Amino acid sequence: MAYYVNPHIRDTVRVFPMEGRADFRRYDMNENPSGLPVAFVEKVKKEITPEFLATYPEPSRFLKKYAAFLGVPFESVTAANGSDMAIRYVFETFGEPGKDVVTVSPTFEMYWVECNILGLRHRPVPYEPDLSMPVEKILEAIDENTRIVVLTNPNNPVGNVYAEAELDRIIEKTKEVGAVLVIDEAYHYFYAGTAVKKAMEEEHVIVLRTFSKLFSIAACRIGIVVGHPALIQYVRQGKLTFDVNSIALLFAERLIEEPGLLEELIRTENEGKAYVYRTLEENGYPVHKSEANFLFIETKRDALEVTKELEEEEKILVHGYRNPLLRKFIRVSIGSEAEMRYFMERFLPLDAREEA
Ligand SMILES: Cc1ncc(COP(=O)(O)O)c(C=O)c1O
Repeated sequence: MAYYVNPHIRDTVRVFPMEGRADFRRYDMNENPSGLPVAFVEKVKKEITPEFLATYPEPSRFLKKYAAFLGVPFESVTAANGSDMAIRYVFETFGEPGKDVVTVSPTFEMYWVECNILGLRHRPVPYEPDLSMPVEKILEAIDENTRIVVLTNPNNPVGNVYAEAELDRIIEKTKEVGAVLVIDEAYHYFYAGTAVKKAMEEEHVIVLRTFSKLFSIAACRIGIVVGHPALIQYVRQGKLTFDVNSIALLFAERLIEEPGLLEELIRTENEGKAYVYRTLEENGYPVHKSEANFLFIETKRDALEVTKELEEEEKILVHGYRNPLLRKFIRVSIGSEAEMRYFMERFLPLDAREEA
């Protein structure tokens, strides 16, 4: 007899990220290309002893400090093994099979993957051809069948943000229909706006944060769910017991405590971004500004060819797209000015080549 396979999982087509990336310059996944200061990492590593490794994780010490760091009650935060696991928890907790999850399209791909896996109906709201996203289109997609609405602010990959008045309208509409609104702030700090205060005021609003982007510890896997204590309690009830490892908790705790580190990471990023804007302009490229740690470059040559040649000839990874809306762009993660200089000095001559 054939064994049973959950049909939602059976029918989900996954494309997993490339491996073996250590040999490349990595500007393709919105990580910090060069990572945290070595001295900081070495200092924290000293705390990892055999006893530390032998003991099950205890997240509360970090979570108390993180809640204070955000200015919210301890009961308003919980952690997960990366925000992609946080997304899974939120969808399992507040999604209803066969009912709608509204997101813009394109957005971070795990949103539609989780819909497929959990049997939730994905209702994507496409961007306009000029990459604008009229808030009316999102509002129109929200109705009594909606259980979850996701806004990624800034959005990945487009890099746009929502004005406070737009957010307010979506908060009202989701409240009216009884849906949960997830505001994914993975790229917070590159963009200073936040809905944390809204999440404290409105029980149906959840904010997601990650330590993978500005905080530069994607390898550790830690993401945070922020929301009203009642809602966070539901998320906690559905969690795995030890889903966030002690190394992640330790690094996250030391990161938020380290004097000046956050400011230094933001400054480094901003210098890298300013350099890229300047260099693109000097070389006659349109500048597509982004509020995140990545930006679109409209290549002069075919964007997918450029992506392939950068990888094969220069050992540089960037993100290219088959989606017609994004076909003319490469998406490049932003790091320090030195990182971006390395990239630009290789990208510009390659893109200026005559087509064969
Ligand atoms: C919008 C968005 N949310 C969540 C994630 C996942 O982050 P994490 O590493 O915390 O799983 C990403 C990663 O690129 C992202 O772009």
